[in-house]
Amino acid sequence: MNIHTYEKAWLVAAMVLIVGFIATITYGAVGPGIAMIDDDAGSIDPNEISDHERFGETGVEHLGGNEYEVNVVAQAWSYSPSEIEVPAGSEVTFYVTSRDVTHSFTVVGTNVNTMVVPGQISEMTVQFDEPGEYGILCNEYCGEGHHTMEGLLTVVP
Ligand code: CUA
Repeated sequence: MNIHTYEKAWLVAAMVLIVGFIATITYGAVGPGIAMIDDDAGSIDPNEISDHERFGETGVEHLGGNEYEVNVVAQAWSYSPSEIEVPAGSEVTFYVTSRDVTHSFTVVGTNVNTMVVPGQISEMTVQFDEPGEYGILCNEYCGEGHHTMEGLLTVVP
């Protein structure tokens, strides 16, 4: 009789623990924890990048005023385009996706540092006030050429 009660109690305790763990993991994934992708701007079929309206033609697009869009495709082991030029005072929104494996798109000296996952589009907006040169590099290990994966962003006066 007593054993039965104990079993029930343990069963309930175990269930509470399991639900608790799942809730913690779920909260960690979708809650205000560490965002692995800065902003998810949707999904994309990596096989259809060449035909994609945004990534079919990579590079800088002037939207008007001081607003620019930069569409970047990452692949082992380069960025397309590898050189980006925007004027000082511009507000630049980057859209980045990967053709093959997971890379990162990191603009050194800025807060642009996003994972680039095949099948997903990463988006982030930055204001570039001062002219200067910023290195672009990959922070996610992506194979033997990982350390050679780089680009250059120039903010011209
Ligand atoms: Cu791409 Cu490391």
